[in-house]
Amino acid sequence: MSPVRCTSILAAFVACGLAAFNSIDAAPPESKPTYPPTLHGGAPCGSCIAPADLSWKTVVTSAKEPGEPLIISGTIHQPDGKPANGVVLFIYHTDATGYYNGQDDASHPRLKGWMKTGADGRYEFRTIKPAPYPHRTTPAHIHAHVYGPGYSERSIDDYWFEGDPFINAQALARMKEMGATPAIVALKRDGAGVLRGLRDITLKPVQN
Ligand SMILES: [Fe+2]
Repeated sequence: MSPVRCTSILAAFVACGLAAFNSIDAAPPESKPTYPPTLHGGAPCGSCIAPADLSWKTVVTSAKEPGEPLIISGTIHQPDGKPANGVVLFIYHTDATGYYNGQDDASHPRLKGWMKTGADGRYEFRTIKPAPYPHRTTPAHIHAHVYGPGYSERSIDDYWFEGDPFINAQALARMKEMGATPAIVALKRDGAGVLRGLRDITLKPVQN
């Protein structure tokens, strides 16, 4: 891995702050990074297949998608607490049966979406609540990546859901071994019966 260049607090966070998850070196702002088809460990490369025009909010699933409608929103902050502008949040997850697609290929999930923050750092996505993997004890989860101009894509902690029966000390210990601390999101139904959750994300500072 070549040395990374940290050209701003935000870029530095993404370039340096989550080294445990990182498999792609940061690129200087003036160059266009290239990516493998998947990230380290086979995670999908969201930036490789992102639509050209991104909004601060997105709808992942059609109205016909089986499952409980779910809306997650929040704000992405820079390490200093200011809203992070221009950050892309890529999320993907299993469907209501616990599979990523017909081939159970987690590297190419069917349900996925992208958001790009504006000056206020806000994001929102509407989808269905994913089911846990069949025949396993991993809590239901949504994977998330971040990336932006001049820095490459990397994973951040998963979304978990408060009250999931698979969330226990053993599951948390497994994540800790991987250097992760899932964000356990509380869900409440709104007036329309839609599950809603909040998760703010604070980008980590540079680790010099
Ligand atoms: Fe997963």
